[in-house]
This record gives sequence, C-alpha cells and structure tokens, in this order.
Amino acid sequence: MSSTAIVGAQWGDEGKGKLIDYLAGHADVVVRAQGGNNAGHTVVVGDNKYTFHLMPSGVLYEGTLNIIGNGVVFDPEGFLHEVDKLKSKNVKISTIKIDERAHMIFPYHKRIDELEEEARKEQEIGTTRRGIGPCYMDKIERSGIRVGELLDLEKLEASIYYQVERKNKLLEKIYNADGFDPKKIFETYCQYSAHLKEYITDTTILLHEALESGKKVLFEGAQGTLLDIDLGTYPYVTSSHPTSAGFCTGAGVGPNSFDEILGVVKAYTTRVGKGPFPTEQDNETGDAIRKKGHEYGSTTGRPRRCGWLDGVMLKYAKRINGLTGISLMLMDVLDQFDEIQICTAYELDGEETSYFPASLSALAKCEPVYEKLKGWKTDITGITKYDDLPEEAKTYIRKVEEIVGIPVKMVSVGPDRNQTIVRETMI
Ligand code: GDP
Ligand code: IMO
Ligand code: MG
Repeated sequence: MSSTAIVGAQWGDEGKGKLIDYLAGHADVVVRAQGGNNAGHTVVVGDNKYTFHLMPSGVLYEGTLNIIGNGVVFDPEGFLHEVDKLKSKNVKISTIKIDERAHMIFPYHKRIDELEEEARKEQEIGTTRRGIGPCYMDKIERSGIRVGELLDLEKLEASIYYQVERKNKLLEKIYNADGFDPKKIFETYCQYSAHLKEYITDTTILLHEALESGKKVLFEGAQGTLLDIDLGTYPYVTSSHPTSAGFCTGAGVGPNSFDEILGVVKAYTTRVGKGPFPTEQDNETGDAIRKKGHEYGSTTGRPRRCGWLDGVMLKYAKRINGLTGISLMLMDVLDQFDEIQICTAYELDGEETSYFPASLSALAKCEPVYEKLKGWKTDITGITKYDDLPEEAKTYIRKVEEIVGIPVKMVSVGPDRNQTIVRETMI
C-alpha cells in the first residue's frame, strides 16, 4: 500500500490529525491539498498536545516530507506563527514545502470574512473568520495573489497595490469600513517572503517523484465531506473540496493515485457553525458527549453541536469519496451510555429514505430513524486489540459496517497515538 487518502466523512473534527500522525510514522510524504488555517488538527503525543492549522500533521516525524499543496489557501502569518510555536517547544520539525501556486490570504480577506458574517446576521454561516471564503473568491475570480509571488517582489508589489485599491473600494462603499494601506501590507509580506523563501517550490514535482518511486504518501484532508462547497450542506459549508476529489486538483495528482481512501468517522456526530443537523441531541445526551469528548473547536474554541451517528450521511460520504474503509474515532466517548442510537434512515414527508437530500430545507425536515444498541459501559481506553473490545462495542462496529457497506479498518479509543486499534494495515 503506497498512498492513502484520509477524508473527513462528517462535518469536520473527526480526528483526522490523530490518525494522520499515527499513520505518518510509516509514511514518507504527507500532503495538505485544500482549506487553510480554518482547520484545527489535534495530535497528542504523551503529555504534549499540538494543534495544527496549516501545518501537515506529519511534521513531528523527522524524515517525512510535508507538503502544502496548490489547493490550500495559505496565510503566511498563521503559518509562521505555527512554526514559531513548534520551535518554542523545541520540536524538530521535518521538511515542509509550500506550492508556489497556493493562493495567499491577506488581511483584507479576514476583514471581509468578518464583515460578511456580521452582515448576514441570523443567516451567518459561522465561519472561522480566517478569510477562507474571500480568498477562494479571489482565486476563482482570477485576481488572487499566489505564494510564488513572494519570490518576485516587484510583481507582488504591483499585485498588492491593485488588489488593495479594489478591496478598499469594497470595504468603504459596501461595508462602510476602513480600508488598508497597501504599503504596509507590502512591507509585511516582504518580511514573510524572507522567512518563507526556503519553503516555496513546485510541490507537484516532489509529489510525482515520490509516487513514481513507490514512496508512501498520505493525503491529509481538512474539514469534512458535508462541508464540501458542491456536495455539502450548502451554504453552511466551507469554500473548498474536502472530498477525495479535492486531492486531485489540490495536490496535482490523478484520481488513480490512491490505493486506499479512508473515511475518518467520529463514533457520533458533531458540527460547528450553523445549518441543519438531523441527529443533533440538544439535550443531556449531547451535553454528555461534549463533556467526555471535549467537543470544543480547536480553531475557535466554540462548543461543538453533538448528536448520534448518522448512517445516512455516512453512506452518502462513502459514495462521494469512493471510500474503501473507515477509521472509527473517539469510540471511548460512548463508553458512558446504557444505550446508543444510530440513525439508519430518515423520515421525510411521511416516507422513509436512505438518501441524503440535496435540499437544505428537505434536510431540515428529516426525522432520523434510529436503531438502538446496548452500550458497553466499560472503559475501553486501554484496549489495544480488536478482540479485547467488549462484545457490545464490536456489535456497534459491525452495525456501522453493515449500514455503510465498507469495513472499519481502524478504531481509536483515545487521543494518544498509542490508543489506536489497527484491524488492517493502512500504509
Ligand atoms: P480533526 O480536525 O479531524 O483533526 O479533529 P480535531 O483535532 O479538531 O478534533 C478531534 C478531537 O478528538 C481532538 O481533541 C483529539 O485529540 C481528540 N481525539 C482523537 N481521537 C480520539 C479518540 O479516539 N478518543 C478521544 N477521547 N479523543 C480523541
Ligand atoms: P477540521 O480540518 C469543523 C466550518 C466552520 C463553518 C464553515 C465555514 O479541523 O476538521 P470557513 O471558515 O471554512 O469559511 O467556515 O465550515 N469549518 C470547520 N468545521 N472542522 C473544520 O476543520 C472546519 N473548517 C471550517 O465552522 O461552519
Ligand atoms: Mg478540527
């Protein structure tokens, strides 16, 4: 097995960081291909906890090559802050390369993100306010400024002056807000250029060489399937493609580059931000999940909305991504329940369906049909072998496999690297 794509199968925060870090111990290359520092990927190693936003989650292993691909929206300030934080912890970070085609986030993107959210009032999306949407807007509009321009300061200066003039008109006339000083932005980005030069290259060449020579490559998804701009719960989504197809355009590889496409699935469901959530438990059950799972955003600190596992959503995620297996995360959070529910279908307008609806208003009307399973009421955090799991936990896992129709290949029973049960070697 040489290349594995890791995709969030729900609304993000499924435990991708933990899984990537675990698998990265046996990988040569780890690649991020979409999103930006809206992501928050937590890695726990012994007493140390790291939260990566832009940094691929393989940086803790010396010898891995970590790539920030062309499809990422890159915030230089955020990235350098992450580098400094790791250095202050005396972490020896492995090689990082940033693709010269990746689009850059500027202060005006963050400001517009904030102002747009405020203007939407009750209709706010609940973005991370990191400027992700506005940066992708410029990219699609073909006026964005790419990382490669940090290597050509004359061009960068012209681009910044052009863009800031346009954005200032927007800020002043539409939002009634203050504009930015292009000179100041240019000076700041010149400083970033000095710090970032060593990282910038055409990463597709490195990646193609790695794949062609049979190196082990891990594609690290950020966000999750239901946050996909096309196939997610639009408009309550992010502005990129967190689905497996996003790795192709976001890292510059063909769809036949993956030997395995692993869906990362939390043993229940969470989401941050707004939008319908059929299995949400806005009650004591949800509170109990939040408490045990520490369900607060790693990027914004917001409490995550919590609910039961949604099999309809997972089946949709399997089809969209071409998932070949599941890594079931945070199983231990369910240790506490006498009874666990799992959604097997929706009831919509009096009819049962197992299809995830395209329309958001239809989704908002969906009533989950639950199957009830007996809880295991045992602390599973120290279990390292599948066979040692309580029978009820195995029944739960089998139920997931039956509903989604693919095998659960890994089970995570705690945040630490060691709390991982492998049923089938991934890489
Ligand atoms: P990501 O964005 O998909 O990488 O997920 P986050 O890091 O935002 O959120 C997952 C949270 O669950 C983090 O706090 C992890 O440390 C934690 N975590 C991951 N796997 C497990 C697990 O199996 N059990 C428990 N209790 N926590 C886990
Ligand atoms: P990881 O990689 C969970 C959500 C935001 C908001 C919506 C749009 O840690 O799983 P954006 O700032 O992207 O324009 O916000 O998407 N969102 C995430 N939710 N996990 C994430 O990343 C997310 N990244 C964005 O909360 O609802
Ligand atoms: Mg996260």
